[in-house]
Amino acid sequence: MSPSACERPIGVFDSGVGGLTVVRALMERLPLESIVYFGDTARVPYGVKSVATIEHFTGQITEFLLQCEVKMLIIACNTMAAVAADVVRRLACEVPVLDVIEAGARAAVASSSSRRIGVIGTPTTINSNAYARRMHELDPSLRVYSQACPLFVPLVEEGWLDHPVTRLTAQEYLRPVLAEEIDSLVLGCTHYPLLKPLLRDVAGPGVRMIDSALTTAEFAAERLQREGLLADGSRRADYRYVVTDVPLRFQTIGERFLGRSLGVVERVDW
Ligand code: DGL
Repeated sequence: MSPSACERPIGVFDSGVGGLTVVRALMERLPLESIVYFGDTARVPYGVKSVATIEHFTGQITEFLLQCEVKMLIIACNTMAAVAADVVRRLACEVPVLDVIEAGARAAVASSSSRRIGVIGTPTTINSNAYARRMHELDPSLRVYSQACPLFVPLVEEGWLDHPVTRLTAQEYLRPVLAEEIDSLVLGCTHYPLLKPLLRDVAGPGVRMIDSALTTAEFAAERLQREGLLADGSRRADYRYVVTDVPLRFQTIGERFLGRSLGVVERVDW
């Protein structure tokens, strides 16, 4: 690629605002990089939709971001990564594609000494078995215990990050995986990093939290370096946020995920 390719943005996408946890990690790890974020806020949640529908939506978003001339694509949504990563890779051709499942699976395998790992995510992510499959490819001796947690997404969007209802829900969901004496828990959904303090409390000190937002940012840094695509700082990093709807309380929720002000948000009409 030409030198100017380095100054192109990274395309990051998710079913809604949750992928901003990945953007936040990228901004911290790679402050010179420009980012175009796409959140399909009109059609969220994806985690309870069929594979065919998710593949179709994912293809549309990929094409949009490729038109923005991104130098790398990051699938920030665990549900899309679980069932539609092939669609993205097929459309992206030579543009590198990273996803939260690859990053999270690698980090979990590296972190676990007991070889007993828990994974939590949306029903579609857990039913796809994508995390367990990838971790078994990396280490066939692993034991993986998975649990769908469908109530976590609405609880996080409500802002109930440390609420008794969320705590009880977490105790209920985590009971079966904790009974398997896991030493690492993969937070396999964009929304779960916001629950990290509460989940740490419920799981106890013996369980390490694997936050795929952080590991994805680390992976992106390595890959950009390897491909000679790191921004050189000759231009200021530019952040663009594109969504399909601007729902009620979007700004508040988005800023909670991003940890800073969102600025201008563009809406595409599909
Ligand atoms: N972004 C989704 C994920 O990481 C959670 C929200 C949804 O269900 O669309 O799985």
